[in-house]
Amino acid sequence: MKHLMTGLAAAATLAAGTATAQQSIVVGHSLSPQSHYGIGAQAFIDTLEELSGGEWTGEQAPAGQLGGERDMIEGLQIGSLDVVVTSTGPLGNFVPEVYVLDLPFLFRDYDHARGVLDGEIGQELLDRIGENELVGLAWTENGFRHVTNSQRAVTTPEDLEGLKLRTMENRVHMEAFSDLGAAPTPMAFPELFTALQQGVVDGQENPITVISASKFWEVQDHVSLTGHVYSPAVVLASPILFDGLSEEEKGWFQEAADASAAATRAEVNRLEAEGVALLRENGMEVITDIDKAPFAEKAEASYAIYTDEYGTDMVDRIKAFE
Ligand code: PAF
Repeated sequence: MKHLMTGLAAAATLAAGTATAQQSIVVGHSLSPQSHYGIGAQAFIDTLEELSGGEWTGEQAPAGQLGGERDMIEGLQIGSLDVVVTSTGPLGNFVPEVYVLDLPFLFRDYDHARGVLDGEIGQELLDRIGENELVGLAWTENGFRHVTNSQRAVTTPEDLEGLKLRTMENRVHMEAFSDLGAAPTPMAFPELFTALQQGVVDGQENPITVISASKFWEVQDHVSLTGHVYSPAVVLASPILFDGLSEEEKGWFQEAADASAAATRAEVNRLEAEGVALLRENGMEVITDIDKAPFAEKAEASYAIYTDEYGTDMVDRIKAFE
């Protein structure tokens, strides 16, 4: 017995008055167990269980049960959560260098994004994360984000004018949508479905993976494949857990995170191939033919949020990556 049960599992056990030392983790994320995040979280748990010969076990805390992504990241820092799969949406609030990944129209396609994140640049950013009371284990994926709304078909930036659009709690995204003429409304994801249903906001933006996992067709009529920003995700661990592991256990956690990323990306690939048909079957108007150039031009001012602080070196390196 090397490690006390951590996170929620520990809290539940202690509350029940049966505190026994076990090696069990909780993996938190925002979507359903069937989603690309759920599949990735389960791959993490299964791989860890297998590599450790059952010494470590785990369970998912899906669907924002433990709060929004910002809350879960804070949970890692104070040790109330063990592992989290999160988008980079709120991560820039903790590790501002990561904002570079949230810049609109930076990545050309999935191969470009995955190549950058799996290489030197991705490792440099994981190292920065590691300097901020978090452990960045692996880059995983949410997908290219698209705009949905209940009001009208969006084909040009002018169509965004005045739309109340929920964004993540991310300064770059908020600035970009302001520049595009929308009224950005930052909000944690667990509040979003109700906000769309009640008309608090007109629309939101998320990848096909999330639009389908969240059944946004129940509250949104139009989706425009703007692909305005690539949304990376990351497998994070609590340093309070991770720093207490043996080298062998750290290796198991790393392999589990890599397996999680591979499983998530495979599901993103599947949904990218089949998702548009699924959205149409469920009654959404899907606009696929979008001229992205005017969107990119208007959103470019948001780059200053990152470049004013850190310069253009990283942006140039990412753009130049082949
Ligand atoms: O929109 C968001 O907040 C994120 O894309 C989500 C759905 C929580 C997945 O990381």
